[in-house]
This record gives sequence, structure tokens and C-alpha cells, in this order.
Amino acid sequence: MDHKTRITREGIRLYDTADFEGMRVAGRLAADILDRIAPMVVPGVTTGELDAAIEAMVNDAGATSATIGYKGYKHASCISINHVVCHGIPSDKKLKDGDILNIDVTVIVDGWYGDTSRMYVAGALPRKAERLIEVTHEALMIGIEAAKPGNTFGDIGFAIQSHVEKNRMSVVRDFCGHGLGQVFHAPPNVLHYGRPGTGPVLQEGMFFTIEPMVNLGRPETKVLADDWTAVTRDKSLSAQFEHSIGITAEGCEIFTLSPAGRFHPTYG
Ligand code: MF3
Ligand code: CO
Ligand code: CO
Repeated sequence: MDHKTRITREGIRLYDTADFEGMRVAGRLAADILDRIAPMVVPGVTTGELDAAIEAMVNDAGATSATIGYKGYKHASCISINHVVCHGIPSDKKLKDGDILNIDVTVIVDGWYGDTSRMYVAGALPRKAERLIEVTHEALMIGIEAAKPGNTFGDIGFAIQSHVEKNRMSVVRDFCGHGLGQVFHAPPNVLHYGRPGTGPVLQEGMFFTIEPMVNLGRPETKVLADDWTAVTRDKSLSAQFEHSIGITAEGCEIFTLSPAGRFHPTYG
């Protein structure tokens, strides 16, 4: 039976309780792929090989990659190494010992989008990267704690920015999280900085990502000539974690939690 699609005046769709199940299935697959790629992240492997393995996992699950064919993008993942902030393109470049990298995967299952990313290290984790990755993961989870009905998107951004800046790191302004659900990118823009009480009020049934990018140096980025790869202008290291979540009556549900409990940078 057809029922009316509910949209807020800011253009944010409110999904129904039954829609959460679609997001759970898609989110779980994306997170499971990030679990299963972890043992392959070693010095000497190329990011193209990692991407090919991810594409095979998407296909084997009977799902579709949301990124292949998206605005001309050709790969099943974005792989962003060291000072690459996001949208790194898989290539024949080999990982070196001590490289840190974000792998970002978005799948479509039965029309529902699951979008998640996390950090990995090839070989030994360098000391200065350790704290960056830790703070970025904490920032995501602190943002998620602020994601509940009655709070605003500005509350989420403020919580993230405060934690990052308290640790003398910087929040990237040039990229943000986004609504998703039966589409990849929808309103609102989910900023990872902001002021308490500003922005749209969170309501039950909103589905969106939170995906803070944190730099050890300054926040400014630039996009390389390939039109995708975003890097820190000052070449400082950058990290990112991303979850897809849904607002519930009480707070929120994380759709992309690691089934193996491996989301945390230390990989249990
Ligand atoms: N998954 C990314 C996000 O978090 C988007 C990647 S788009 C691509 O929104 F085309 F670069 F893959
Ligand atoms: Co996203
Ligand atoms: Co993503």
C-alpha cells in the first residue's frame, strides 16, 4: 500500500520504522566488507588490488557498488593514503610500511544505501598517526552521541569540532556528511563543525552519515588534477571515519557497526 513520503521544510526525508531494516542490511554489508578487507592491508599491496577485492565482495553478495558510475567515478571504493583527505582513487600504487589509509565503501542492497569508512595501517602504526586516528574515531562517536531527537545538526558539528580542537587538530570544512537512504546523497549537508542549537532539528526517521575528516595540521584542502583526490594543503596527515545512522525515538541506530567488532583503529 502506498503512503505519503514525509519531508521536512529543510528538504530532509523522514523514513518509516519499516525502512530501518533496509538500512540495517545495506549497512551491515558495507561494514562486513570493511572487516574482511582488513587482513589484505599490508605493505606491498596496491590500492587497486584492495579495490578489486572489494568490488568482488560487493558482487558476491549480490549487491551493487554505489560509487561505480557515480559522477564518472570508476571504482568500488575510495582509498585515501596519509595526507589524502578523501576520494583517493585506487591505483597501482603499493602501500608502504607505516602508511595510514581510509577505505570508504558504499553499497546498494535492495535500493538501500550503506556508506561507511574507517582507518587502516600498512605494517606498523607510526606514533603521530596513532593519536590522529584515535581522536578522529572519538570525534565520530561523540558526534553520534549528539544525534538524537530535539538536538540540532549544529549540536553534532559542535561536539565533533570541540573534541578535535581540544586535541589541537583541525576539522576539514570542505567536505561533509549527507542524508542517504534510497539515494546516495540527499539533504542535509552534515557539517563536522558548528554552533550549538543551529541548523535543522533532528527528528525520528532521518537517515544520514557522519564522516569527520581530521588533519594534524591546518584544515585547508585542495583537489588534485584528477578532479577527485582531495589532499591537505599543508601535506599534514589526515584521517576519517564514517557511519550511516538513523534517528530513533530515543537516540540513533548505527547501521554500519562492524559485525566483527573491528571498527576501532586498534582492531581489537
Ligand atoms: N562514500 C563517499 C561518501 O562518504 C562518496 C564517494 S563518491 C565517489 O560520501 F565517487 F568518490 F566514490
Ligand atoms: Co558518505
Ligand atoms: Co563514504
